[in-house]
Amino acid sequence: MTTPEPPDPTTGAPEMIAAWSRADGARRVTAAFRERFGTAPDGVWSAPGRVNVIGEHTDYNAGLCLPIALPHRTYVALRTRDDDRVRLASAQESAVWEGDLGGVAPGTVGSWAAYAVGVAWAAREDGLAVRGFDAVVDSCVPYGAGLSSSAALECAVAVALDDVHGLGLGGDDAGRARLASLCIRAENEIAGAPTGGMDQAASLRCREGHALLLDNRDGSTRHIPFDLSAHGLALLVVDTRAEHQLADGQYGARRRQCEIAAEALGVPSLREVEDLDAALDRLDAVLAGDVEREVVRRRVRHVVTDNRRVELVERLMDADDVEHVGPVLTAAHASLRDDYEVSVRELDLAVDVAVAAGALGGRMVGGGFGGSAVALVRAGDVDRVASAVAAAFADARLTAPAFLVATAEAPAGRD
Ligand code: GLA
Repeated sequence: MTTPEPPDPTTGAPEMIAAWSRADGARRVTAAFRERFGTAPDGVWSAPGRVNVIGEHTDYNAGLCLPIALPHRTYVALRTRDDDRVRLASAQESAVWEGDLGGVAPGTVGSWAAYAVGVAWAAREDGLAVRGFDAVVDSCVPYGAGLSSSAALECAVAVALDDVHGLGLGGDDAGRARLASLCIRAENEIAGAPTGGMDQAASLRCREGHALLLDNRDGSTRHIPFDLSAHGLALLVVDTRAEHQLADGQYGARRRQCEIAAEALGVPSLREVEDLDAALDRLDAVLAGDVEREVVRRRVRHVVTDNRRVELVERLMDADDVEHVGPVLTAAHASLRDDYEVSVRELDLAVDVAVAAGALGGRMVGGGFGGSAVALVRAGDVDRVASAVAAAFADARLTAPAFLVATAEAPAGRD
């Protein structure tokens, strides 16, 4: 949801996507609120986008993932009302949404506002007393880049509503897990995107300086220290600008294939698969004659091996052996490209060129079909790797990519 810095015409330096300081974000959105509604908001709340280190398309399979919260955040200035009315404006969108909270239901909100008002709807569905509100949103999380701009919006609204209504959920992890579940319902049921829960957990439950090891089977977490600079390394994010769209059929189709596999294997989720070869043999037998058999086998292989890669990265991080995380990322990319088939040309190019230019490893991140890739690079190589990727995109006549260096920042909260 932000315009990257234009390329420097004198040096041709790659575009970097700047994160606003929190004070800056709060100032911007407060000024926009005053201008729009002629009064001061009750306060400003913000929530980060995320980038996932490893464990992709595992969340809706009750598996493991390891996201960090980005420095790029979505800011919400909000003021409660005494009635049921909601008025929502965004610095990134021209359309203002206005309606009654009581009228919100699946299928009734067809715009970006679904992510915001959907959270208030989900809170009410969950028995929480939430009234109408006026709100203005502004964000420096790049939109459509697979860095969870939608979860950042949901989670900023969630902590705002929690605070203004004194619900007391933002104060501990159990409460934040409940807020995350409201955001997931908003996304699944009001915005109509059949996503898992990683993005909302990352935005609400991460800790500064740590990656969040999230076990989607029971919702438990472990905070793993994540300070790449202490190891002379950096996580370079490449926004390929190939815009992804989760509401289209591909994501849902992957989910269905995993459900078909779990059913054929007689397990509640693919997380229960321990012996991969035995599971693949069983699928051969149960799905014999099914046109989807070969595809379903590959989907299962990705999910099971990616869970193992998360465990491997956890062990490497615990042993302070961060350099060896690189090849695990590259293996995950091959699995996402070949077995899960969610990569696209731009993502493959970004990863291949980054690795050829000296990155220790890299992979596409998020849902896929566009969006971003990450590369684990030596700190001194960030510019060189980014320049190599930008040059390869120019040679291929692709839209210029944009870059950011991801550090593990704070979760959603009041500004
Ligand atoms: C999107 C979804 C997440 C997750 C990832 C893939 O980001 O929102 O729930 O499934 O794709 O790991």
